[in-house]
Formats: sequence, structure tokens, C-alpha cells
Amino acid sequence: MRFVRDIEADIVVFDAYGTVFDVHSAVMKAGQALGPRAQALSDLWRQKQLEYTWVRTLMGRYDSFWALTAQSLDYALATLAPEHSGLRPALLEAYRHLDAYGDARPVLERLRDNKIKTAILSNGDGTMLEDAVKAAGLDALFGGLISIEEIGLYKTAPEAYQLVKGAFGIEANRTLFISSNRWDVAGARLAGFHPLWINRTGRVDEYSDCPPDAILKSLAEIF
Ligand code: LAC
Repeated sequence: MRFVRDIEADIVVFDAYGTVFDVHSAVMKAGQALGPRAQALSDLWRQKQLEYTWVRTLMGRYDSFWALTAQSLDYALATLAPEHSGLRPALLEAYRHLDAYGDARPVLERLRDNKIKTAILSNGDGTMLEDAVKAAGLDALFGGLISIEEIGLYKTAPEAYQLVKGAFGIEANRTLFISSNRWDVAGARLAGFHPLWINRTGRVDEYSDCPPDAILKSLAEIF
């Protein structure tokens, strides 16, 4: 199938958190008590969660994404809203059942209708991914949920992207990779994928030596 910019690919692989699932929906749902600090807490939680993945992989030490998600939430709560530490269980529960972005389902249905293989490649643990796709009602629309858990190396380790070929036998240059995370797009570019950057919020571009094939505002634009 031909995609944007005439890219030809045999599989479309999605990043999960921030791309298919709205990571800020956890605080939106379970963090009302935070009032005006809600967005700052959600941002710090996400930023620390990612930092912990990169530091772990650079140290050669693996800890599960779920554990890092809890540790980063603890840091964010202790920093910005220590009096609300009681929100921890509800926020973690909400993180397991995040909302999917509204543009995800129509794109996945169109890929299914065109018999294009689809998968998630995520830093998330396998059970987190299963819970997330089920909660969003998208479980029947992904042909595979690939977690880096099986190698214990977080993206952007090159080995993480090679899991797609291991699972589907499809070469990197026939793989369309879709992420809202610019650092993930950079890793995917070096791995030989065709990466598309979904820049929903108008962020400034970065990693200029590892560019996407295209910058899009929504998943709907991949065709
Ligand atoms: C993912 C996160 C890190 O890999 O966005 O799903």
C-alpha cells in the first residue's frame, strides 16, 4: 500500500504512549483534585518516566515500564503536589486504561480494510499494552503488540526497533513507523524504518540529522 509521500510499506507500526494513547488522559480523569497543577504534574510524570527508561538502558539495567511509571509518578507528586500523594493508586489505574486519540480508530479500520499488517512497538510492558488496547476497544485492530520487555532495552536502542523484523519478518525499509515522540522518530530513522512524526501540538522540530519522512498533524494524514 502507498502512504503519504508515496512511501510503500507492508506493515504500519505505531508507538503506543503519546501516539495512540493520550498519556495526559490519566491526570485529566483521576487528577481533578490537583486543580491548576494538573498539567504540570502530567508533564513532569511523562518527562521523568522517559528519562528513567533512557537512564536504565544506558546503565545496562532493566526495570519494567510499569515500575518506572510508578516511580516517575511518585517523583512528580512529591515535587509538585505532596499533599495529594493519595491520588497515586487512582492515577496509576487510569494510566492502565488511557483514552486513545480520536484519530486512531478510523486509521486502524482503514488499514484493516486494506489488509495492511499493523502492530504496536512500545516501551510499555506486554500486559500494559494488552490492558490499553482492550480498554480503548482497539484490540482487534492490531496484528501484534511488541514490547521491548522481551529484550530489556528501551527505545531508542537499535535492538528495540529490530524486534519488528523478528516478529513479522518484514524488512525495516518496508516498515512505516508512526510516532508522536520526536526522539522515537529519530531512533526509527536510524533503524532504517520510514518514520512519520505526528506533531499534534506544533512542537519545534529537533534531531535534524534523523528526520522523519513526513511531519503530520494527525494520524488521519498517513494516507
Ligand atoms: C512507547 C512510549 C515510550 O514506547 O511512547 O509507547
